[in-house]
Amino acid sequence: MLPDEFATSQRLGKDEVSMLASKYGTPLFVFFEEELRRRVRMVREAFKWFSKGVSVAYSIKANFNPSILKVFISEGCHFDITSLGELYFYLRSGGDGGKVIYTSVSEEREELLEALRKGVRRFVVSSSNGLKNLRLAIEESGARPEVLLRVNPEVDVKASVKASHKFGALLEMEGEESAGRMIGLMRDWGLDFSGFHFHLGSQITDPSCFREALRKLASFSRDAGLDGFRVMDVGGGLPVFYDEKVPSLEDFSEAIREGFEPMVDEFGVEELVVESGRYLSAYAGSLITKVVNLKRERGKKLVFLDAGYHILLDAVLLDQAYPQYSFTEGGEEEIELFGKLCDSSDFFPISPASRLKGLEIGDYVVFENVGAYSLVFSLPFHCYPKPPVVMKTGDGEYRLIRKGEGLEELFEEEGGLL
Ligand SMILES: Cc1ncc(COP(=O)(O)O)c(C=O)c1O
Repeated sequence: MLPDEFATSQRLGKDEVSMLASKYGTPLFVFFEEELRRRVRMVREAFKWFSKGVSVAYSIKANFNPSILKVFISEGCHFDITSLGELYFYLRSGGDGGKVIYTSVSEEREELLEALRKGVRRFVVSSSNGLKNLRLAIEESGARPEVLLRVNPEVDVKASVKASHKFGALLEMEGEESAGRMIGLMRDWGLDFSGFHFHLGSQITDPSCFREALRKLASFSRDAGLDGFRVMDVGGGLPVFYDEKVPSLEDFSEAIREGFEPMVDEFGVEELVVESGRYLSAYAGSLITKVVNLKRERGKKLVFLDAGYHILLDAVLLDQAYPQYSFTEGGEEEIELFGKLCDSSDFFPISPASRLKGLEIGDYVVFENVGAYSLVFSLPFHCYPKPPVVMKTGDGEYRLIRKGEGLEELFEEEGGLL
């Protein structure tokens, strides 16, 4: 059994899986409302040492299912949003523009103007062209949003995905894309420069990079002669357990505290934003799959599931091993798990936390911790339509939160009726 933090608080049992599979078919994603709520509360609890104000922000990119957004909205989360499409989903799900942190990658003027018109009041800028576009959009809209500067602190990050120099201003005083110049421009243009943001990577395995990044930022702010700033937004990176032990939430909170607390007195920071997508949604999602074929070869059992990397892309992109389990007992043969795509890369690495035994055609295999960066990457490879998604609500009910796509719908989507 995994320690509480590294496991979902809810697990699908055998009868539940059979019932859900016969009702909705497989593959089937199942989300646990209670687990979504629990993770938000765990992050708040871990950062409660900063009594002035901690905002837990959910990064919609990890999973934009409207029912999931509604749960996070009702938990009072803030939202890290990167595109007008995400903003649309958030607002249509009942969100309020005042809780958005808009961090565009392309930073186009029309986009920023539209976000302002939709009520967004906090923007993160990452390039000098983006800053110019934001200024134009602000002038045109007449709004006065907060502007955070995204910086690239250039620290050593140990993570499965490291944020590259594509993002953020350099912590230097001179140069077109330097933080010093961009803060100067914000002042000259009368914008409300309210603080800093950085995102160091995803699935970070050593929290010390947060401490280093915050220290570098403090030293830059001192050199730049800043009297103060209100907001410090530390991007995602809180890791999820897949196949090896990761540092705990407390380890991250401690490293951030060591870097952040000295800034509070020196620069008068009033709000710490902790912005995660993966940590908040991953543990709340499971995927039910079925064994549809198998062969025995050189003492190994090669098991074919009715899933594939078209619905769990990180299995192939990042070689990510999700903890899997089955309900069968049986031989101790070594098992390899394959998907049903016509591609040799379509296999599922097995996590040391997996419990897979037996496995015959018709058995179910459940993948855990698949709630982030899974549904959002769904691809209709081989004309496989998107699977349905069910949520187990706080009352223990099962609610369909996304219909499985039919073949005719896919045909139409792909232009079949044009
Ligand atoms: C700006 C920003 N914030 C937060 C996140 C969320 O990171 P994670 O899902 O690792 O928590 C990302 C992910 O790419 C990001 O780009």
